[in-house]
Amino acid sequence: SVAYFNGTFVDSNDPVVPIDERGHQFGDGVYELIRIYNSKPFMLEEHLDRLYMSAKAIALPFDQERESFKEIIFQLIERSGLDNLDVYMQITRGMAPRNHLFPDAPVSISMTAKPFRSIPPELREKGAKAILHPDERWMNCYIKSLNLLPNILAKQEAHKAGCLEAILHRDGKLTEGTSTNVYVIKDSRIQTTPLSRHILAGITRMAVQKIAMEAAIPFEEKHVDIEELYEADEVFITSTTNEVMPIVQVGDKLIGDGQPGPMTRLLQRHFQELTT
Ligand code: PDD
Repeated sequence: SVAYFNGTFVDSNDPVVPIDERGHQFGDGVYELIRIYNSKPFMLEEHLDRLYMSAKAIALPFDQERESFKEIIFQLIERSGLDNLDVYMQITRGMAPRNHLFPDAPVSISMTAKPFRSIPPELREKGAKAILHPDERWMNCYIKSLNLLPNILAKQEAHKAGCLEAILHRDGKLTEGTSTNVYVIKDSRIQTTPLSRHILAGITRMAVQKIAMEAAIPFEEKHVDIEELYEADEVFITSTTNEVMPIVQVGDKLIGDGQPGPMTRLLQRHFQELTT
C-alpha cells in the first residue's frame, strides 16, 4: 500500500526510514489516525488541530503550513485508490545520531494509507467485553505521543482475556481505554471522564458530545469510579477505529442485562449517519 516519507510517496514496505530516526529510537514524536469514509476525511480539521497541539506540547518544530500539509494527505488518499481508508501520520524529531538532546534536524513526516477493516456487524450489534487495568501511563496523556508501551501492554492483557479493550483506572476513577474514551450511562445521562492531562481528548468523543446535545441527552463530564461502572445501565467506548462500541461485560460482571442498551444504540445510529 501507499505511504509517504519526507517529500516522497513510497510503498509502505520500502525501507525508507534510517536507523537513526528519533521516532524509531525514542518514540520521540506524535501521531494521528484519521478515517476516510467515502473519500471524505472524518473531522479532519479537528484531527489536525490536535496534531499541531501535540507537536507544540513536546516542543516539536512542526511548522508546515496547514494547507500544504492537507495537500499531502489528499494526494496520499488519491494515490491509495481507496474510498474507505485509514490515514496514519506521525511527526518525529527527525534523523540524527542517537543522543537524548534535541537534534538540530528537520522533523520527519510519515504517513500510511490502509483500507480499514469495517467493524464486524456481530460486534457492533452484540457489543464487546473489556477488562479493568491500572492506568500506568505518564502525566501527559492529552498528548497523542508515539510512546504507547503501557497502552500496548494493557491491550494485550485484554486480548489474552478474550476482550476488546482494557478500561484504565487511576486513583479509583476511570480514565479512558488504551485507545478509546470510556462512557457510562446512568438514568439516561451520559457520564465520561472530564478532559485533563490524564486522557486524550478524543475526536469521536467530540462527535458524541455533539450528538448528545442535539438529541437533548445530558452529557456529564464527571469522574466515574469502578463501582459506578459496574452499576451502570450501559457502557460504551469510542475511537476513530471503534466508532461507538457497546461494552456489555467488564471482567466477569455483566453491564445491565449484558446487551447493548437503547441509548448506546441511538448514539451508534447517529454516529453512523455522520459517516455515510
Ligand atoms: N486511538 N484515547 C486514547 C489513548 C487513544 O489512543 C485514542 C485514539 C482515543 C480516541 O480518540 P479518537 O476518537 O480521536 O480516535 C482515546 C487511535 C485511534 C489509535 O491509537 O489508533
